[in-house]
Amino acid sequence: MSRTSLGHFVVGIEGLALLRAWMTDPDTASARFRELAQMAANPDVGPLSVHIDVPPEDVRSGYARWAGSYDALRNPLIHVEEPAVHGLVDSLPPGTALDAACGTGRHARHLKARGHRVVGVDATPEMLDIARRAVPDAEFRLGDLTTLPVETGSVDLVVCALALTHCEDIARPVSELARVLRPGGRLVVSDFHPFQLLLGGNAFFLDGQGHAGFVRSFAHTHDEYFAAFAAAGLQVTRCLEPRMDEAAVEMAAGGLMATAPEAFRGALLGTPEALVWEAVRPAARI
Ligand SMILES: C[S@@+](CC[C@H](N)C(=O)[O-])C[C@H]1O[C@@H](n2cnc3c(N)ncnc32)[C@H](O)[C@@H]1O
Repeated sequence: MSRTSLGHFVVGIEGLALLRAWMTDPDTASARFRELAQMAANPDVGPLSVHIDVPPEDVRSGYARWAGSYDALRNPLIHVEEPAVHGLVDSLPPGTALDAACGTGRHARHLKARGHRVVGVDATPEMLDIARRAVPDAEFRLGDLTTLPVETGSVDLVVCALALTHCEDIARPVSELARVLRPGGRLVVSDFHPFQLLLGGNAFFLDGQGHAGFVRSFAHTHDEYFAAFAAAGLQVTRCLEPRMDEAAVEMAAGGLMATAPEAFRGALLGTPEALVWEAVRPAARI
């Protein structure tokens, strides 16, 4: 397996920062170019000299490895996504809530605290084990988004967070999320923003031993989501695109922020990191 260069990530960030500035701020673009030229002239210094193994993983193997460190890692996507999702669910009256692809139970815990009866479903047993310990008064089931082990029309609220990015085709999972909602029920979906994924973003992780990996992610653009929601008979009511703030940029840079702080800020600050949808299953079919 070829090894991944940490330096190539920083070079890409310099290039993106240059691109964002080249027409509106030529001085900043020139500063980024000078840093790029310096890096190219010194490939054995700094991050360019560091290579690591980042093996691709499928959902089951990747999240089995990631489970133990998932809640400990500072994650820029969760940093921007969580307030947006809470803003959509916190005003809802308690009912039956499904956390679909619940992982370690991050949203299940929040929904339980807000008085809902909570069912969580996930495809990775290692993630579910942690969720069961974290939220003992919720019910967790092993299952797939394409065939949810949940009765039709039985749920008031479905939250599906940061998981559809791992599905190449979202039509079937979205139709399943709609199927389990009662008429009038609400769906909240969050995803990795396609802007980041189309620029090379992926679900990178470090496991409990500090070894890297990534779970393959697919960019789902707004037109794909609209088509999937419409085919499932859902009506979109909100679309949010929370952006990278300073803290999120530092998290995304990992330990590399100090190597090129202005480049990381120039490349990433203000870019949309998460895509969050709210949709309802109409009480009468539209
Ligand atoms: C990034 S984690 C998100 C976990 C949790 N929803 C959160 O936001 O913290 C993605 C989760 O989706 C699950 N997942 C991915 N594809 C799935 C599928 N097709 N069916 C069920 N679970 C899936 C993984 O096992 C993993 O736990």
